[in-house]
Amino acid sequence: MTRRVETTVRDIISLYRDEGHAAYGGEPVSQLEHALQCADMARSEGHHVDVVCAAFLHDIGHLPSVTRRAGAASAEGHEVVGAKRVRELGFPARVAALVAGHVAAKRYLTFKDPGYDRQLSAASRRSLREQGGSMSAAEAARFETAPLFSLLLELRTWDEAAKRPGAAVDPIAGIEQALTDSLEGAIVAAAGVGQNAPK
Ligand SMILES: [Fe+2]
Repeated sequence: MTRRVETTVRDIISLYRDEGHAAYGGEPVSQLEHALQCADMARSEGHHVDVVCAAFLHDIGHLPSVTRRAGAASAEGHEVVGAKRVRELGFPARVAALVAGHVAAKRYLTFKDPGYDRQLSAASRRSLREQGGSMSAAEAARFETAPLFSLLLELRTWDEAAKRPGAAVDPIAGIEQALTDSLEGAIVAAAGVGQNAPK
């Protein structure tokens, strides 16, 4: 493991340890529990570490120091703030793209399936309104051509499900290896010495 990767992983774990205990919106779990439950679901579906990391990091833009860093006046949504931070930290582009797209996936699903919003928690329904509500038909048609379309829908299902108070998940240390592997994969890909293809 390079020194830079080691430091980045340590900083991310500290960030979630320090700031992940706030409630996740109006949900009965903390940000950290939500992140770990999402990562567990991605892992148990057998996904590549990049997808596990995206599941863990998808709401990093909600953590106070990440929001502050983006600027108090920033009007960008937490998914945009989070995706930028994930890129800055050195994760592969697809990790950032999954983080960036997870709100659009909710807007898509509520357009596509009129019953979908009944699966949403009250807090998620409230945030949907703030996020622009359901997609239009034209937005949905465009979204369906996104390269990560099906993964984004999967991430969304984990996001909705990862709100179980007290669910048993790997402790935070369990995410370290996935973070390390994903960051190292980005370095290898940038050096052009390997393929970093996700499932
Ligand atoms: Fe989430």
